[in-house]
Amino acid sequence: MTATTALRTEHDHILSVVACLRAACSAAGAPNGFDGESFGSMIDFIKNYADAWHHAKEETHLFPALEARGLPRDGGPIGVMLHEHGIGRSCVGHMADNLAAAIDGDETARAIVTQYAMAYADLLVAHIQKENGILFNIADQVLSVEEQARLERIYETAVPEGADAGTGKRYEALAAALCQRWEVDPAEAAQLGQGEFGCHAG
Ligand SMILES: [Fe+2]
Ligand SMILES: [Fe+2]
Repeated sequence: MTATTALRTEHDHILSVVACLRAACSAAGAPNGFDGESFGSMIDFIKNYADAWHHAKEETHLFPALEARGLPRDGGPIGVMLHEHGIGRSCVGHMADNLAAAIDGDETARAIVTQYAMAYADLLVAHIQKENGILFNIADQVLSVEEQARLERIYETAVPEGADAGTGKRYEALAAALCQRWEVDPAEAAQLGQGEFGCHAG
């Protein structure tokens, strides 16, 4: 599995939780529909898998490898991706800050949690479409076979800071459990990542 294929697979898990997030936001509009436990699990997933696991791999290994091949950090696709990672962190920060009050029944806090959850979902769908459809295709073209193999080895063995070797599998199991809870089909959710930038290129 190439490094970009491994990252595309992680996108599929992230998109399944994004679909759950949207379902939970729809449900939250109904009386007693706010599922605080689910929002807590999804915030945990976003912080510790989508960001601290997946984005960390992009920022620590893939993006520097692309910069070394001449892609500018500022003003190009890498800069856009880094900027969007930051917006995502801000969204999930607002969700986390308001979760306890939302669970206690505070309507304003619930509105803030769902508002930022919807914003995060839209951001991540567009972000993953750009990585799947543009940046990772560029990576597949500009990285040498040796560089792809080096990244592949890193992705098989390296554990991002703050995570452990079981982090990936643990959160992928959490994503599967959330899909059951929210009746989300992971294969259908993965289609969100194809979007306007073309089909899945491996
Ligand atoms: Fe990214
Ligand atoms: Fe990504």
